[in-house]
Amino acid sequence: MADLSVKVAGVAFKNPVIPASGAFGFGREYEKMYPLSTLGGISVKGMTLNPQDGNPPPRVAETPSGMLNSVGLQNPGIDYFIAHELPNLAQKGTTIIANVAGHTIEDCVTIAEKLEGTAVDMIELNISCPNVRQGGAAFGVSCDAAGAITKAVRGATTKPLMVKLSPNVTSITDIAKAVEAEGADAVSLINTLLGMRINIENRRPILKRNVGGLSGPAVFPVAVRMVWQVANAVSIPVVGMGGIASGRDAIEMMMAGASAVQVGAAIFADPYAPIHIIEEMNSWLDEHQIASVRDIVGSVQPW
Ligand code: FUM
Repeated sequence: MADLSVKVAGVAFKNPVIPASGAFGFGREYEKMYPLSTLGGISVKGMTLNPQDGNPPPRVAETPSGMLNSVGLQNPGIDYFIAHELPNLAQKGTTIIANVAGHTIEDCVTIAEKLEGTAVDMIELNISCPNVRQGGAAFGVSCDAAGAITKAVRGATTKPLMVKLSPNVTSITDIAKAVEAEGADAVSLINTLLGMRINIENRRPILKRNVGGLSGPAVFPVAVRMVWQVANAVSIPVVGMGGIASGRDAIEMMMAGASAVQVGAAIFADPYAPIHIIEEMNSWLDEHQIASVRDIVGSVQPW
């Protein structure tokens, strides 16, 4: 049995597999299927200051090798999370990442302040949600805006701060360097790629909000490329995500430079996907006689 434990910005994960924000809620449905302690960690649904119903339906569409979503940050708000979800999660024996997705810098600062002193292990500042009018990806598409919100939240929390980056930018390495310069302890990437489908019979977009975020195996090569580029551009750790559906995918993402991985869309097809991925990673490492998963991080040898 290989050593699967990793650390990201000083935060310990018993293995590198983390259900991604938005794919696992707060774990309630999944704790009935398997112990959440099996997971490296959980990144909970993106939380705003106040509760939100999200976007009107249809807000999910299937695509070849993937899915489009336009959920719109449906969530019960940070106070509900702290009072009703965090106490349950804190008993589960896994690392807790709070995904913070305010509409303004002030929202994000207030949320970070509210999380101070709680059982949350790490904050993932979401500057990359493509499905909201105010905030979301707007923070993540310019170096100045990404740096400003990172600086403000950094000043509001002593918790390790990871910033979740958008792929819908000209240079993701520039954004990564901007948030590193303002105090981010880690970056996670990629959030979804902006996409669109049209029903050709009624000539209407399938999603009510017209466009949404593409995830799933279709985006995996883009994610591997961006993780590799960012890992070579910054000194802080990178958590990789985007279309990971197997242990081999997770190994590949870590070879690109990810210190840990998040699994999103695969969970909608198979709720046990994170468990299978952990098992497959372990088998692959054993077959290749690699004692620790940490030994493969960034081990790709470019031509
Ligand atoms: O629409 C959503 O709730 C998606 C959030 C995200 O991509 O961060």
